[in-house]
Amino acid sequence: MNHEFWRTAWARGQASQSRGCTSLELEWLTDRLEINETSVGLFPFCGAAPEVAELSKRCAKIVCVDVVEAAVEKMLRGIVACNAQVLRNGNLRRASNIEMFIEDFFTFSYEERFDWVFDDGGFISVDPSRRARYLDHVASLLRPGGRAFIRALHASYCRPPRVPPFLIEKSEFRELVHEAWRARVGHEDMINREFRSEWTYAGAESVTRTSWLLERKSMAKRR
Ligand SMILES: C[S@@+](CC[C@H](N)C(=O)[O-])C[C@H]1O[C@@H](n2cnc3c(N)ncnc32)[C@H](O)[C@@H]1O
Repeated sequence: MNHEFWRTAWARGQASQSRGCTSLELEWLTDRLEINETSVGLFPFCGAAPEVAELSKRCAKIVCVDVVEAAVEKMLRGIVACNAQVLRNGNLRRASNIEMFIEDFFTFSYEERFDWVFDDGGFISVDPSRRARYLDHVASLLRPGGRAFIRALHASYCRPPRVPPFLIEKSEFRELVHEAWRARVGHEDMINREFRSEWTYAGAESVTRTSWLLERKSMAKRR
């Protein structure tokens, strides 16, 4: 997906349908990703995700990346409402221990390795032809043994998708990650097709929303 697609989606208010994490899910995540007051986390393709403020209270720092300025500014407005002072410097916005970069994630680099990655909306937005590259980039930003949470959307059968959210068969997801990651399913729930009419094009009767917990193996390179 090119960046213009996302700028237009944000301008039309169609980019984010996130319901955020429930407090139960946040507790689960804090435990499984080992989020603690010394850990540094990464949130790629962050949009205006409402859980950033809550996650920031549980870690030393959270670094968010989104290519659309309107998305980052929307998230900032939510954070400012919590009385955080905002500093602006080029493509960086900083509010308390939250850093937000307006940048293409595929060219994003950082001065230190992350302890954990939280992806809710990233993987499903990546064009299928770039999924392996996306996962490689996430792995390269994580410390060895670091963990990633990825929420994916699975259907037992789907035609090649044209627009996000991109569905993926569960077996294909496992195949994609198995070399570089140990993968476990956390939560799963079903979404029926009325919820997102565009899924009918992919031939999906119903879609499973799966929370994956991935643990990075060694420095193994995927190809
Ligand atoms: C499905 S939305 C994320 C929704 C988010 N969870 C929320 O609650 O707002 C996907 C996000 O990825 C961003 N995005 C798309 N391509 C990107 C890229 N190459 N680098 C960084 N961000 C990107 C879009 O601007 C959009 O905000």
